Amino acid sequence: MKTKIVILLLACWAGHVQAQTKLSQKKMLKLADESLRFSARQYKHMMKTAPDSLLPRSTNPDGTLNASNFSAWTAGFYPGSCWYLYEFTKDPAFKQEAEKRQALLLPGQFRTGTHDMGFLYYCSFGNGLRLEGTPAYKDVLMNASRALITRYKPTIHAIRSWDHKGWHCPVIIDNMMNLEMLMWASRNSGDPVFSKIAVEHANTTLKNHFRPDYSSYHVVDYDTITGNVIAKKTHQGANDTSAWSRGQAWGLYGYTMMYRETKDARYLEQARHIADYMLNHKNMPADLVPYYDYDGPEIPNAVRDASAAAVMASGLLELSRYVDKAESKRYWNAGADALISLSSPAYRAKEGENNNFILMHSTGSLPGNFEIDKPLSYADYYYLEALLRYKQWARK
Ligand code: GLY
Repeated sequence: MKTKIVILLLACWAGHVQAQTKLSQKKMLKLADESLRFSARQYKHMMKTAPDSLLPRSTNPDGTLNASNFSAWTAGFYPGSCWYLYEFTKDPAFKQEAEKRQALLLPGQFRTGTHDMGFLYYCSFGNGLRLEGTPAYKDVLMNASRALITRYKPTIHAIRSWDHKGWHCPVIIDNMMNLEMLMWASRNSGDPVFSKIAVEHANTTLKNHFRPDYSSYHVVDYDTITGNVIAKKTHQGANDTSAWSRGQAWGLYGYTMMYRETKDARYLEQARHIADYMLNHKNMPADLVPYYDYDGPEIPNAVRDASAAAVMASGLLELSRYVDKAESKRYWNAGADALISLSSPAYRAKEGENNNFILMHSTGSLPGNFEIDKPLSYADYYYLEALLRYKQWARK
């Protein structure tokens, strides 16, 4: 009797942790195709309505489309999503749209005032290079990589994130995402400087950004002279000691990607710990679309962040490829379940609505009071990436 109860309890616990996938692989593949076809239709509307000289980002407080020039950190995601839709549909209209919109980014390829060069150029030109092999795209990516490493601080062993006032040398967890382009730049050029900086940055972040429970601080501020940590803070989370959901997802994706690139087992360990932190968290909703912060004091009435769910899903699907069978299933299923939720009417917009973005209910910055419960171009980008990853990596 006692043993039966223990087994039952263990099964319930495992059920929670494993987030058993709600659909068979066959049905999930059908859902992924249907969601990609929907996304293609939705972005066809976006193509026609977004002003030609701008890059879609979100919805303004007055309900109109928020689109930017090349300077916003989000500017590369819309062309990147068009590349993903081209990959799926083979429809030349998406290729043309990706080329047209990413051309708007060209004036920014030498910028040294931002750390977001990977987001901006690897998501756009990087996908274009992967799909088309266009040699000119390599030049853009090398220029962006050279610009990014000017921000590397040898005393800190990390790339500086922001130049905003009020910080000494801030490094944010998001910056892990910019390292993928640097790893590519070393492979492409044969110059190890880019990957060396990426690895140092990842190691410094590993050392200073994480708490004992493997949640991460958003911002670590460093002394520019000594390289010592001055403060550990938040910018977009609930408070300095809380776990901002998108930050956790950037960390998961970033360390999984750095494991793929380096095969350093410490990065894999870190990614597994971050995944477990999220999936076991008492405040992770049953549908696996996190609140904007795992420690948001407004929970259960806190806003969700579909962008965090999309980044997490994409990261979990990749992580599942590098771990043993039992863990692999857990991460794969959780990634799939997050995609099932995002593909449901609770998060996926109706055709022609939501300013023609695909997903609803993301949060840019609650403390910053912007983009709260809105569509975000990067939620769409990582959702499309995760759907394609599911299709590519599902057991044949
Ligand atoms: N990199 C900024 C953000 O995740 O909001």
